[in-house]
Amino acid sequence: MAESQIEWARQNVALELVLDRNRPCTAIVLAAGQGTRMRSPLPKVVFDVCGLPAVVHVLRAALAAGADRLVLVVGVGNRDAIGKVVAKYFAPDAVEYVIQQETLGTGHAVRVAIDATVPTGDVLVLYGDGPLYSAATLRALMERHRETMPGVTLLTAEVEKPQGYGRIVTEQGRVRRIVEELDATAEIRAIHLINTGILVMCGERGTAGIRALRNDNAKREFYLTDLTAWMVEQGHAVEQLELADAAECASFNSIEELAEVRARMRRGILLGHMRRGVDVVDPATAYIDADVEIGEGSRILPCCVIAAGVRIGRGCVVGPFAQLREGTVLEDGAEVGNFTELKKTRLGRGSKAKHLTYLGDTSVGVGANIGCGTITANYDGKHKHHTEIGDRAFIGSGTVLIAPCQIGAAAVTGAGAVVRKKTSVEPGAVYVGVPARRLERPSDPASGESR
Ligand code: UD1
Ligand code: CA
Repeated sequence: MAESQIEWARQNVALELVLDRNRPCTAIVLAAGQGTRMRSPLPKVVFDVCGLPAVVHVLRAALAAGADRLVLVVGVGNRDAIGKVVAKYFAPDAVEYVIQQETLGTGHAVRVAIDATVPTGDVLVLYGDGPLYSAATLRALMERHRETMPGVTLLTAEVEKPQGYGRIVTEQGRVRRIVEELDATAEIRAIHLINTGILVMCGERGTAGIRALRNDNAKREFYLTDLTAWMVEQGHAVEQLELADAAECASFNSIEELAEVRARMRRGILLGHMRRGVDVVDPATAYIDADVEIGEGSRILPCCVIAAGVRIGRGCVVGPFAQLREGTVLEDGAEVGNFTELKKTRLGRGSKAKHLTYLGDTSVGVGANIGCGTITANYDGKHKHHTEIGDRAFIGSGTVLIAPCQIGAAAVTGAGAVVRKKTSVEPGAVYVGVPARRLERPSDPASGESR
């Protein structure tokens, strides 16, 4: 036992030395293409995929895989639109932009990026329209590359329908070259091992190879894929890592394909939550974005839409038919029921809003009950205003809270009350009527929805 542990440690120390995890790594993300088949004025890579722009998924995965520099290759026509979207997620100096004046091919795009940024260490090449690669996959690719430091390591996939992809041609089990569909013979087209396009190359040998690319092919483009044959000719090794889950290589050229990419990502997100103990009752109708946290033991009932960034504690219940928009937080045990929409709202521990309710820019304390049909009128046509609801408050059915306003702890509003803006309901007070006024001798709590 002890001996095997020593052996294990020795092997791992050796692995650390070989892998040199601290070697610099530059990620080059290609996004200069126009994406004309999307039939949209928006650049393809900024389309939303489960709550984040496609290219943001790619940049994040690159960072998570260990890239320490992010280079984004954009076109003259889409530089501003892409930059504007990316700036919402990354600090100004976190992403370096390189403009490819003319889209002369993937190899040309990488060349333009390398010439502008002169990367050292390794270079990871990714595509802005391929948002499904997990950080784990990219990390595995980096590690495969660093095991033996070949000239280039390709990410490949064995797929049922290889049409449209470059095919990986091997000889005696070694990668020899990549042939694009348009340049392929029938024999090569029958190969099902495809080029995902993702690769890691050694900065120096890669740069030399990229500069040697020519455009003598069917499309008169500089193909990044020709780097492989160049490496082989120069006597540099070429390695490959085959995708464990071939579905990760899906990219999109049309809205139709984008819908498939979204569906794949959604499935992965739902599986992740279910494996962490979230009871997603009907995965077919649960729309949960990326970047959503849900605590153990929470239940997501059918037909819910939950936006990126939402945080849900343990033991919560959401739905059926609920929408949790950006900036929403449900603390442990909070419940949101049917036809209820929350935006930039915090629902405290054990608080409930079970029916037909809109809460926007609202913070609710612990143990409060928001009656059926409650609405925060948070928008005056120009500005959004805040509503504050205290611990154990009891908001009667059909209450309208005109923001900004404040409901004190354990205060009560009567059914149909309209609380005017700038009202501050005192803790424990009862307010009824239109406009709502303080009821001096509180009798029974005004009718609200059952807890
Ligand atoms: C490429 C690969 C192919 C692979 C496939 C995987 C080449 C020559 N072929 O083909 O082997 O199976 O990806 O999806 O590399 N781009 C630029 N500038 C350019 C050209 C492209 O930035 O000048 C960007 C595009 O915006 C896109 C990506 O590079 O994000 C891929 O380009 P695309 O033309 O779609 O390559 P494919 O023909 O799909
Ligand atoms: Ca493509």
